[in-house]
Amino acid sequence: MSDTANADQIAYWNDKAGQTWASLQAELDRQLEGLGETVMEFLAPAAGERLLDIGCGSGQTTLALARRVGAEGLVLGVDISRALLAAAQRRAAEAGAARARFLEADAQAHPFDPAAFDAAFSRFGVMFFADPPAAFANIRRALKPGGRLAFVCWRTMMENPWMTVPLAAGLAHLPPPEPPTPGAPGPFAFADAGRVRGILEAAGFSQIEIRPHDAMVGGNDLESAVRTALRVGPLGMLMRDNPQARDAVEASVREAIAANMKDGQLQLASATWIVTARNG
Ligand SMILES: C[S@@+](CC[C@H](N)C(=O)[O-])C[C@H]1O[C@@H](n2cnc3c(N)ncnc32)[C@H](O)[C@@H]1O
Repeated sequence: MSDTANADQIAYWNDKAGQTWASLQAELDRQLEGLGETVMEFLAPAAGERLLDIGCGSGQTTLALARRVGAEGLVLGVDISRALLAAAQRRAAEAGAARARFLEADAQAHPFDPAAFDAAFSRFGVMFFADPPAAFANIRRALKPGGRLAFVCWRTMMENPWMTVPLAAGLAHLPPPEPPTPGAPGPFAFADAGRVRGILEAAGFSQIEIRPHDAMVGGNDLESAVRTALRVGPLGMLMRDNPQARDAVEASVREAIAANMKDGQLQLASATWIVTARNG
């Protein structure tokens, strides 16, 4: 798989990022579960349907979708990260979720059976493609005529205090991160709704709707929230490159997070797009 256009992302999600996400599975699921549920309401999976979960990670959404399609349905979780797929397989086995299956594959390039799925879903798994129009065209070919697409992606970083509050606290002790190239693969690659629409149109989707969605995220206690903030996203990357700043950063991040706890749980604002479209 490593000779595909997404070799950099495959290396990234099989190295530190995949291990980090696997070890923080419970914390990240708590933080993101509500946003995944919102997309599922738009997708409206029906009993007996066959679904794709693109960039399924450790499988929380794959299992939730499998419960919705029931014994006659099937959900295929696709990901490039072996560590996360192994976690997903374990969870599916523990849950006895026989209708959840997992595939190690690059969703941009994998030759899915044509018109094999009723719908494709993703929770933050579609912003990492080197060639997004090609990736979405590939996903569209896997859908039946009229098949549905529904995913959630982040708006700009500045609209997402769950990210900027700990990052700003940490930056008091760290060199500033490289400014991201707009649109480059990464968590905020789909911040521009016009770009997302253009990608989906180029991929052949129709009935494209892109809705802003504002919701509080968090749910973790103080220590879990600090541990998570220090290890994922831009702050996590800076921490890996600047281990000497750890104690100072951790103290400032703890203070910033403590100021945003409600009833013992972190609560910070998030801003996403909920995107839906159809094949044809
Ligand atoms: C931000 S994580 C989200 C994981 C999961 N959907 C969740 O919400 O917990 C992004 C996921 O997309 C996967 N991914 C990135 N590029 C991919 C590609 N080309 N094909 C399939 N999966 C990909 C990563 O390995 C990672 O698991």
